[in-house]
Formats: sequence, C-alpha cells, structure tokens
Amino acid sequence: MSRKLKELSRTLRIPVNRHFAFRRLAKYHERPRSLEETVDWAMKFGRYGYFTIHTLQIRQEILALASAVAALKPRNILEIGTARGGTLLIWSSLASHKVVTCDLLHREPQKELFTALPPPGSKCAVKLLTGDSHSADFKARVARELNGEQVDFLFIDGDHTVAGVESDYLDYREFVRPGGIIAFHDIVERQPLEDNQVYQFWKRLKPGQQVDEFIASPGQLGFGIGVLHVPVQ
Ligand SMILES: C[S@@+](CC[C@H](N)C(=O)[O-])C[C@H]1O[C@@H](n2cnc3c(N)ncnc32)[C@H](O)[C@@H]1O
Repeated sequence: MSRKLKELSRTLRIPVNRHFAFRRLAKYHERPRSLEETVDWAMKFGRYGYFTIHTLQIRQEILALASAVAALKPRNILEIGTARGGTLLIWSSLASHKVVTCDLLHREPQKELFTALPPPGSKCAVKLLTGDSHSADFKARVARELNGEQVDFLFIDGDHTVAGVESDYLDYREFVRPGGIIAFHDIVERQPLEDNQVYQFWKRLKPGQQVDEFIASPGQLGFGIGVLHVPVQ
C-alpha cells in the first residue's frame, strides 16, 4: 500500500482505533502498576493506528533505566524523541509534576492519548512540544515550558547522528539539576543503521564522568543505554 493510502486508511480508522486504544488505556489504569508492569505496558500496549503506543527497547535495559529514574523520585522529566510514546508511558508514571516530550512530529490523535497517560491520581502533566530540538527557538520553548524549573532526568533519544546527539546534550544539559541523570539510547558500537552514531559521542563523553551502561549482551547489534550522573557540585 502506498504511504498516502496508508495514511488515508489510518485516518478513516481514527474513531475505531481511538475507542480501542482508550479501552486499553483504561485497562492499564485499572490498578497501580509496578515498574516491571509499566515497562511491559510500554512495550506491549498495542497498535491502534495513530493511537499506537510502542517502544523499541530491550526490556532489561529499559527496566534498569526506569529503576534509576524511579530512584530519583523525579518531579520533572525531559525527553527528546517521543516517537510512539513507549518511553513516555514510563516517564509519565514516574514524574510527579511534568514530562516534556519533544519530537519533529506529533499527530493530533497522539496528543489526546499521550496526555492521558499519567495514572489515576497522578498530578503529572504531559506536554508535547513539536519541532526540531536543534533550533534555538525550540530550546526557548522548552525553557518556557519548564518555567524556571530544572528536570531530574533528561532522555536523549532523538537525532542519533554524532552531531545531533552532541547538540542535544550541549543544548539541554543545563536543564538537568545537579544530582540528576542524562541518558542516551543506542550507545553500543555495532548499529544496524549508519546514522546511529551515538557510540561515537558516548565514548568521548564518558571518561572522567560518573556513568552507568545498561547493555543486555556484549557485542549486541543496536540498543544499549548510557547514563551520565550530573555532579552534585
Ligand atoms: C528512536 S525514536 C524515540 C523512541 C522513544 N523514545 C521510545 O523509545 O519510545 C526517535 C525519535 O526522535 C525524533 N527526532 C529525530 N530528530 C529529532 C530532532 N532534531 N528534534 C526532535 N525530535 C527528533 C524522531 O522523529 C523519532 O520519533
């Protein structure tokens, strides 16, 4: 099917997909979830056209990261790279005040579903910012959204080129509080895509810093999460 036809078909199915996705969300919200369960929901929420929630992660790696984030008892989280909202589902279960998630594109149906992710009783607001993380104007929008507050956790999972990941780090690290963490996805050297170059930046960044690496198996193709602990000063 051509891309245009696929989009038309997805658009026509918005009402029915919306119905099933929100029914699925209600199931997820039915009772409090452990961190393990939340990660499983992020990976297996389901595909409902524009209302799909999914993440391409290795369970062991993303669970290790989620545990590190949970240990911070985060108030605010900033994510670059929303995609299908899988990791957003996890962050929205952990932040007590706000998750700001950024991507080049968010579709209207995604906005409705993603902002409804925080569990019942949570005071967390999910804010979707659409645009290019590398533009100065976009960074100013992030700053406005954070309204002078810092974040406990920054997840850099957007532009995977070496220049892109470096810019995101240099541009957004100032928003992370001392003692907070910055995580990078896809840090292993062997990657399936030429443009996945996070490894090149990560190996330059980590010497002399307090870091953790969550890598499911040595020599794996793709994935791997690097965590940088921001010094307390
Ligand atoms: C690997 S996906 C994110 C996956 C998501 N964090 C998860 O695991 O559920 C990367 C996303 O980053 C977005 N992206 C790439 N370059 C970007 C940029 N310069 N600014 C904002 N978003 C960008 C892409 O559109 C894509 O949706």
